[in-house]
Amino acid sequence: MGDKQTRIIAVANEKGGVGKTVTVINLAAALCKEGKTVLVVDMDPQFNATRGLGVDVKEDMLTVYDLIKDHQSIKSADVIVPTRWDGLDLIPSHVDLAGAEIELVDEVGREDRLKDALEGIYGLYDFIILDTPPSLSLLTVNVLSYAKEVIVPCQTHPYAYSALDELFDTIFAVRENINADLRVTGVVATLFDSRTRISHSILEKLKNDSRYSDLLFDTVIRTNTTIAESAGAGKPVIFFRRSSYGSEDYTRLAQELLKPN
Ligand SMILES: Nc1ncnc2c1ncn2[C@@H]1O[C@H](COP(=O)(O)OP(=O)(O)OP(=O)(O)O)[C@@H](O)[C@H]1O
Ligand SMILES: [Mg+2]
Repeated sequence: MGDKQTRIIAVANEKGGVGKTVTVINLAAALCKEGKTVLVVDMDPQFNATRGLGVDVKEDMLTVYDLIKDHQSIKSADVIVPTRWDGLDLIPSHVDLAGAEIELVDEVGREDRLKDALEGIYGLYDFIILDTPPSLSLLTVNVLSYAKEVIVPCQTHPYAYSALDELFDTIFAVRENINADLRVTGVVATLFDSRTRISHSILEKLKNDSRYSDLLFDTVIRTNTTIAESAGAGKPVIFFRRSSYGSEDYTRLAQELLKPN
C-alpha cells in the first residue's frame, strides 16, 4: 500500500451521451499534467475510455472484467496497464464486461466486487477515476459502492437537466444502503454551446436551482470539435492539441478539483 490520500472519484450519469467518458479521459489527463498520478478504471462495456486513452485491448489482455469475476486469483496489479503518458494508468474494459452483470446476479456481496478487488491499491495514486455505463446497472452500483466522490456531468440540454433528479435519488439510495461515505463533489455543465439559447438557459437553471447550485463547478465545458477528434485519435485533448477550448476547460476543471475547499 502506498502513502497517498487517494481520491476515488466516479463520473456518473444514468443518461447517455452527456460527456462522462470525455470527462474521465480529459480530467485524468489534466490532473496528470498538474503533476498528479492517476488511474482510470473503465467500467463501461462500451470501453470508450480505454480507446480514448489509446489502449488496444488484445485477446489475451486482462481487463476489469477478469478482475471482478475472479478477484480471488487475479490481482489489481495484473490488470493495470500504463498509457503512453507517465503517471496515467488504466484498468481497461472489454465488451465481455456486459456479461458480468448476469454472472454476478446470484452472488453474495456482488455490489462490492470492485471494491474488494481494488482495496490493495489505495495510496498508490493521487486519483482513481472511474467511468460508468449509462444505466443504473450492477456495474454502476459497484463503482458507487467503491468511490468516495461523484462528479456528475450534465449536458446543457433540457433532457439532461430534468434527468438529474433521478440520478441524485440513486446516489442518495446508494449512500443510505451501501456506501455512507459517498458524496457528490460537483456537477459540471458539459457540451455548452454559447451560440445556442438553450445552452445558456440550462446553465442558468443549474445556477439557480437550489438542489444543484452549490455543487456546480465554475468551470463549464464547451462544445469543442477537437475533443471528439482527439478521442478518435486515442489521445486526451491536452496531449492532442494544447491550445483548444477542450484543453483549457479540462485544465480549469482539474485545477478547481485540486483547490482545497
Ligand atoms: N465538450 C465536447 N465537445 C465536443 N464533443 C463532445 C464533448 N463532450 C463529449 N463530446 C462527444 O459527445 C459524445 C458523447 O460523449 P461521451 O462519450 O463522453 O458521453 P457519455 O456520457 O460517456 O456517453 P455514454 O453514456 O454512451 O457512455 C461523444 O461522441 C463525444 O466525443
Ligand atoms: Mg461513456
